[in-house]
Amino acid sequence: MTTTSNSPIESLGGLRARLRERLLAAERNPRDADSLLCHALGRSLTWLISHSDDAVDPSIAGQAGQMVDRRLAAEPLQYIRGYTEFFGRRFAVDSRVLIPRPETEILVEAVIKRLSAGARVLDIGTGSGCIAISVEREMPRVRVIATDRSIAALALARSNGDELSSRASFVAADFVAPFRGLFDLIVSNPPYIPADVVEGLAAEVRCHEPRGALTPGLLGTEAFEALLREGADLLQPQGLLMLEIGFDQAAAIRSLASERGWVVDEMIQDLAGISRVVVLSRP
Ligand SMILES: C[S@@+](CC[C@H](N)C(=O)[O-])C[C@H]1O[C@@H](n2cnc3c(N)ncnc32)[C@H](O)[C@@H]1O
Repeated sequence: MTTTSNSPIESLGGLRARLRERLLAAERNPRDADSLLCHALGRSLTWLISHSDDAVDPSIAGQAGQMVDRRLAAEPLQYIRGYTEFFGRRFAVDSRVLIPRPETEILVEAVIKRLSAGARVLDIGTGSGCIAISVEREMPRVRVIATDRSIAALALARSNGDELSSRASFVAADFVAPFRGLFDLIVSNPPYIPADVVEGLAAEVRCHEPRGALTPGLLGTEAFEALLREGADLLQPQGLLMLEIGFDQAAAIRSLASERGWVVDEMIQDLAGISRVVVLSRP
């Protein structure tokens, strides 16, 4: 027996409206539907809008529908598309790594300002490689080594390094464990959210981003303590330790730093006036 389909051919505009409606009904941002449909089509939003009357290829409709299903299950848009933008470059991201945040660009900018040619930099907890690769690409005469204790994250960081033609090297390590060299600058955006606070975060973060990238333990300051304890031995006498910190951690870092013999050279604030980056040195 043969059958013929009577279903009407859907237009791109119709599909777009249908996907937006599904997200709206679940109180999610309908613009994510535009973004995912554009991703499935490999086209811009301008193209999509100006081709609203075109018939949709059913395989594109299927792909876009599946991506919206994932978004409805609270998977971050960046994991679904498979990339995010950071410091002007495109980094592949998936559930192996934290999605690089805009605040971390403040850290990268601050690091670049303080480096001179030939400097040796260690990035601890590199995740997607976003800090190490951005610093190395902006300052190719600087030598950058990046570590993570997650082997899965390192594989993605290496692949991002290759894609972006970076010479940064990636090494599996627990904090500073295998190193005995002297660096001019150690940079880190370590996990810093207290474990119980993670439970109250949006499902996108709580259920999809790697737990080991979010929290170091109950206090939230455990990774900072390890870096302050172990970092000093790896720095040149004039070397700097530069850390991203949580929105409410400035006072805690000041006190931990002074207990461990560090001086806070500078606290750098984000656009909202919140201390986000701390620059530390040894007296
Ligand atoms: C907050 S994420 C930051 C990732 C990336 N640097 C960024 O800024 O987007 C912290 C990273 O530190 C890594 N990490 C956690 N504990 C670590 C440890 N003891 N030694 C090395 N890396 C660690 C995690 O696997 C994660 O990739």
